[in-house]
Amino acid sequence: MELLKKIIENAVKLQNHIVLPEGTEIRTLKATEQILNSKIAKITLLGKKSVIESIAMKEGLQISGARIIDPETDSNRQKYAEIMVELRKNKGLTLEKAYELLNDPLYFSVLMIKAGDADGEVAGAINATGDVLRPAFQYVKTLPGVSVVSGLFFMIFKDKNLGDNGMLVFADCAVMPDPDALQLAEIAVTTAASAKAIANIEPRVAMLSFSTKGSAQHELVDKVVEATKIAAKMNPELLIDGEMQLDAALVPEVGQLKAPGSKVAGRANVLVFPGLESGNIGYKLVQRLAGAEAIGPVLQGMAAPINDLSRGCSVSDIVNMVAITSNQAGEKKEKG
Ligand code: ACO
Repeated sequence: MELLKKIIENAVKLQNHIVLPEGTEIRTLKATEQILNSKIAKITLLGKKSVIESIAMKEGLQISGARIIDPETDSNRQKYAEIMVELRKNKGLTLEKAYELLNDPLYFSVLMIKAGDADGEVAGAINATGDVLRPAFQYVKTLPGVSVVSGLFFMIFKDKNLGDNGMLVFADCAVMPDPDALQLAEIAVTTAASAKAIANIEPRVAMLSFSTKGSAQHELVDKVVEATKIAAKMNPELLIDGEMQLDAALVPEVGQLKAPGSKVAGRANVLVFPGLESGNIGYKLVQRLAGAEAIGPVLQGMAAPINDLSRGCSVSDIVNMVAITSNQAGEKKEKG
């Protein structure tokens, strides 16, 4: 697929260093072999060297190009623990507790990134989203000027007439359960920027609701109306409109009927859902019933690229997510 091909080619050029905290997990090791063979990124696996090597040997995997670090014995523990205490002493974090947290690869990996010892992280093949995200929120935090991390999906359709040459961008489908109007506005602006940066599309953002332009009155509708206004102020050049129903966003005739004169209705390529329930259920409906390929969630708004996998992920999902993470790290370095 065109988008992934470009992302992988770019990752090969960037040669970023990605840490995989779930180093004893078989899909992660299979992905590591593929990533190293294709030179997509430099990899550090976290876990006990003897355990990782014996799993790799049993599976016939060649992963000697990866660095292996045991979070429980690594010589950087003191440095990382001190960084942790510095960042969270106001939350009562002691050095003793920091050392304990560092035994958890999900904390150790985040501290590697914070200390500049890795460029990005991919995890979640065996850990729940919240457990992957919490250490990242606490120590890596958000980009300056951004208050909320969210997750987008690139939805790829066989029908090239849909969206932008067969691609739509959906958000937030992964992180923020119940965003307020300001947070929703930020999600819209950040998603449009990510869509442009990663997929090189000109975003036309539809703020989704069960109402189009006042067809229903409810506080949930008011939130989307308010978010649309805030987002337009945040980025006056952005093509954004709402509130609108999904059919008004995507079908030209319906868009013209329900939102006449809108520059977005009927031709949206970025769909911003009003909350995580609709976003998460929505992308899975499209993936499972329409057979679209769902690439993501790509987390955005974090000060360093950290991405979460679904626990049902395949080996190629991990390979692709490492490439996406490397692209995000590359952009960050260029910006910084
Ligand atoms: N962006 C940035 N920071 C955040 C965010 C966010 N979206 N949410 C929480 N934080 C920060 C808080 O400010 C807090 O920081 P602090 O400790 O420095 O004060 C820290 O993270 C912890 O905040 P809590 O409110 O205690 O967060 P909690 O751990 O309860 O929840 C979480 C955060 C885990 C992300 C929660 O919102 C969640 O579970 N979301 C749903 C994730 C999920 O299950 N998604 C669906 C599956 S993914 C898929 O299907 C693709």
